[in-house]
Amino acid sequence: METLLYKWILLGSLMICHAHVTFTNLKCVMVDKSFGDIKCHIKAVNRTHKYIDLTARLFKGPADNISVNLKLMRYNHGYKPFFIELSYDACKFLKNPKNPFVTSFYNTFRKNSNLNHTCPFDHDLIVDKLYTGNLENNFSNFPSLMNGDYAFFTEWFMNKIQRSYVNIYFRLTGSKEN
Ligand SMILES: *[C@@H]1O[C@H](CO)[C@@H](O)[C@H](O)[C@H]1NC(C)=O
Ligand SMILES: *[C@@H]1O[C@H](CO)[C@@H](O)[C@H](O)[C@H]1NC(C)=O
Ligand SMILES: *[C@@H]1O[C@H](CO)[C@@H](O)[C@H](O)[C@H]1NC(C)=O
Ligand SMILES: *[C@@H]1O[C@H](CO)[C@@H](O)[C@H](O)[C@H]1NC(C)=O
Repeated sequence: METLLYKWILLGSLMICHAHVTFTNLKCVMVDKSFGDIKCHIKAVNRTHKYIDLTARLFKGPADNISVNLKLMRYNHGYKPFFIELSYDACKFLKNPKNPFVTSFYNTFRKNSNLNHTCPFDHDLIVDKLYTGNLENNFSNFPSLMNGDYAFFTEWFMNKIQRSYVNIYFRLTGSKEN
């Protein structure tokens, strides 16, 4: 847990005062086509404001026993793992949110989604208009370190079998460039 906190603080320190976060790409894939389907896209309101919409339909009734692998990647001749890599039981977390890193991750989209309750999920899963601003607000109090291209790779499991993955690509730039 301490290592994780340490990593989170390190990550926070990358996410600069007046950081500008922009989504550069988004991939969502239902690995198990019999399980459901998933659609997502980035929309640009204007040059600086973009948001993400995501909808997952589940064909097989209530989803329970869900876990997720979260991996932060940084671009350096291809996307490479960068400090944070963890697996988490999502249902356990929703019942009792303890892990500070997972909490921060969850808080970035909680208010824009219908995933704000405990398992099981017996409805379509929706993330609606997740703006980059949501991410910027959460990381605004740290000193500047590193601009660059990053990605969050997330793999979603039910009953220990991978069903889908969602990769969110974003670029981090500091106030100097703006
Ligand atoms: C972009 O759109 C957002 C949301 O409508 C608005 O707050 C912002 O001022 C706009 N930025 C520019 C440069 O037009
Ligand atoms: C979840 O979000 C919806 C829509 O914002 C809201 O109506 C509902 O009360 C929230 N539920 C919980 C448990 O926070
Ligand atoms: C992230 O930002 C949102 C919206 O500004 C806020 O409600 C939430 O508490 C923040 N979470 C953390 C961990 O700072
Ligand atoms: C989740 O599913 C796996 C594989 O079927 C099973 O071994 C495990 O006991 C389940 N966990 C819970 C909490 O139901």
